[in-house]
Amino acid sequence: MGSGIAQVLVRSGYSVVLHDTTQELVGRGAEKISRGLERDVEKGQLTAEEKQRAESRLKTTTKLPDLASFDMVIEAVTEKFEIKAEVFRSLDALCRPEAIFASNTSSISITRLAGVTRRPMRFVGLHFFNPVPVMKLVEVVRGLDTTEETVAAAEQIAASVGKTPIRSRDLPGFVSNRLLMPMINEAVYAVMEGVAAPEGVDGVMKLGMNHPMGPLELADLIGLDVCLDIMKVLHEGFHDSKYRPCPLLERMVEAGRLGRKSGRGFYSYAKA
Ligand code: CAA
Repeated sequence: MGSGIAQVLVRSGYSVVLHDTTQELVGRGAEKISRGLERDVEKGQLTAEEKQRAESRLKTTTKLPDLASFDMVIEAVTEKFEIKAEVFRSLDALCRPEAIFASNTSSISITRLAGVTRRPMRFVGLHFFNPVPVMKLVEVVRGLDTTEETVAAAEQIAASVGKTPIRSRDLPGFVSNRLLMPMINEAVYAVMEGVAAPEGVDGVMKLGMNHPMGPLELADLIGLDVCLDIMKVLHEGFHDSKYRPCPLLERMVEAGRLGRKSGRGFYSYAKA
C-alpha cells in the first residue's frame, strides 16, 4: 500500500521520501513505483519525461530522521496497534510540531493511535484502497481530537491525487471494513461449511451481484492475515459475536496461506 500511495503522490507533483526498515524492502517499493509509472506511460496517460520527473521526486530511506522536515507523514505499516504506535512515537519526537500525521490503517482506532503522540489534533486517518493507483476512494477518518483544519488538509491531499475523499467517524472498521470484512468472513464460512467451493462462492458474487472480484479473490488480494486482524478489531471493538472470525480463516493464517503475497490463499499464485 505504501508504494501505491507514494506512486500517486509523486505522479501528482509531491516530493516523497519512502521509508522502510531495510534497503531491500524500500528498493522493492521504488521498483514497484517505477513499474506502475511505466504502465501509465504504456497507456498514454503519462509521457516518458513526466515519468522521469515523477521518479526524480521520489527518494528512499531506511532512516526515520530523514522524514523530520516533511509537512505530512502517511504511515502504512503492518496492521498491528503496537507496531504502528511505536512508529508514531518515534516520528513524534523527530517531526516538526506542525506536521500532520496520517495513518492508512484499515480498522485501528485513529483516536487511540493519535493518543500516543503529542499532536492528536493534527492526526487523521487517510485510508487508501488496493490497488491504490486504480481505486477512487480515500476514507478520511476523524479522531476525537482531530481538528477541522486537519480533516480539510487530508481531504485536499486526497482530491489533489485524483481520489474522492469520504468522511467516516472513528468507529471500528470505519465504513469500508465494517461492511466488506463481514462479507469476506461469511464467504469463508460458506466454504468451511461446504455450501460451495471458493470458485462457486466467488462466481455467485461476480455473476449475480456484479462484483469485479469475488470475496475470496479479494481476500487473497488484501491478505488473509490482514482480513483476520480486521475481523478481530471489529469483534473486540463492538463486543458482538456477529463479527467472530471464521475458524477456517484463522487456520489458513496459521498455515501461512496468506493469499497472493505468500503464493497461496484460497487460490494458488505463481510467485513473482
Ligand atoms: N496497479 C495499477 N493499475 C492496475 C492494477 C494495479 N495493481 N491492477 C489493475 N490495474 C488497472 C489496469 O491497468 C486497468 O486500467 P485501464 O482500465 O486504464 O486499462 C484497470 O486497472 C482494470 O484492470 P484489468 O482490466 O487488468 O483487470 P480488472 O478489470 O479485472 O480490474 C481490479 C482489476 C481493478 C483489481 C478489479 O478487479 C477491482 O476493482 N477489484 C476490486 C478491488 C477492491 O475491492 N479493492 C479494495 C480492497 S479493500 C482495501 O484495499 C482496503 C482495506 O482496508 C482492506
